[in-house]
Amino acid sequence: MRWNGLELPDKSIYFQDEDSLIYCADCRDILPLIPDKSIDLVLTDPPYGINLDTNYGKFKNSKKYETITGDNNSFDPSHLLNLNCRLIIWGGNCFADRLPAWRGWLAWFKTARNDTHIRQAEMELAWTNFITRSQAYRYTWIGAYREAGEDLRYCHPTQKPLSLMKWVISLVPEAKVILDPYMGVGSTLMAGKLLGRKCIGVEIEERYAHIAAERCRQAILPLEMKQVEQGESSNQSPMLFGVASSTKGNKVAREVSKGNTRKEADR
Ligand SMILES: C[S@@+](CC[C@H](N)C(=O)[O-])C[C@H]1O[C@@H](n2cnc3c(N)ncnc32)[C@H](O)[C@@H]1O
Repeated sequence: MRWNGLELPDKSIYFQDEDSLIYCADCRDILPLIPDKSIDLVLTDPPYGINLDTNYGKFKNSKKYETITGDNNSFDPSHLLNLNCRLIIWGGNCFADRLPAWRGWLAWFKTARNDTHIRQAEMELAWTNFITRSQAYRYTWIGAYREAGEDLRYCHPTQKPLSLMKWVISLVPEAKVILDPYMGVGSTLMAGKLLGRKCIGVEIEERYAHIAAERCRQAILPLEMKQVEQGESSNQSPMLFGVASSTKGNKVAREVSKGNTRKEADR
C-alpha cells in the first residue's frame, strides 16, 4: 500500500490517517517489509527485559496493570540496529551490553527535586546512534505526581508523557517520517502528530493499538478531555477517553479500525 509516498506492507494495518499509520503485529514481522530509506528516525520504548511489576494497585491513586509483553526476557535490539537509520531507544541502559558504544544519550529526570526518596528509577535513559551531545529533560511523572499538561490518563503501565516525546522529536527536525515499532498507546505518534511529522507505529497487543488509534483519531483536545474525565467513574475503562470527538481518519482507516473494535468488544 502507498502512504505519504512510501510503499509499505499492507498486512496487519489497524488504523491509518494522513499523519499516522498503525500496525497491530509483532514488529519483527513488519520491519523486514519496510523498504530501506523509508524512515528518517526510529524512536521507540521497547520492553526493557526487567520483569517490571505492573501491580501499581499497591500505590495510592493507581491500579493493577497487565505485565508488559516481552518484558520477561532480556531485550535483543539487533533487529532495530539492522535498520540502518537514526535510532533513539529508551531503556538502552537495561541492555547496553547489546548496543554499540555511543557518547550521546538522552535522559529524562522524572522527579521534581533532588531529595525525593522513591522506589522507582528517578530517571530513564535513551541510547542513540547519532546525537553527539547528551541532553536531559526534566518532567515530573512519578507515581501520582505528574506535571499538569497534555497527558490525561494513564492507559499503559509504562506510558511516556507527550511532553517528553515532543522534546525528543524536536531534537531531530529533519525527521519527517518516524517509526515506533514498540508503540504502546501511541505517545510517539501523538507527539509526532502535534509537531507535524508522519509516524508509523507497531504494537503487538490489540488493546494498546486500539487506544493509540483512538488517540490519533481524536487528536486530543485537553479541555474537552478534562471535562469528560471528571464525569467518569473510577472503574471505567481508560480506553477511548470517553469522548466522541471529530474523526480524522479516512474512510479506509475507519473501516479497518471499526472492524477491529468490534472484534475486541466481542471478547
Ligand atoms: C515499554 S512499552 C511502550 C509504551 C509506550 N512508550 C507508550 O507511551 O505507550 C512496550 C510496548 O511494546 C509492545 N511489544 C512487546 N513486544 C512487541 C513486539 N514484538 N512487537 C510490537 N510490540 C511489542 C508491548 O505490548 C508494549 O506495549
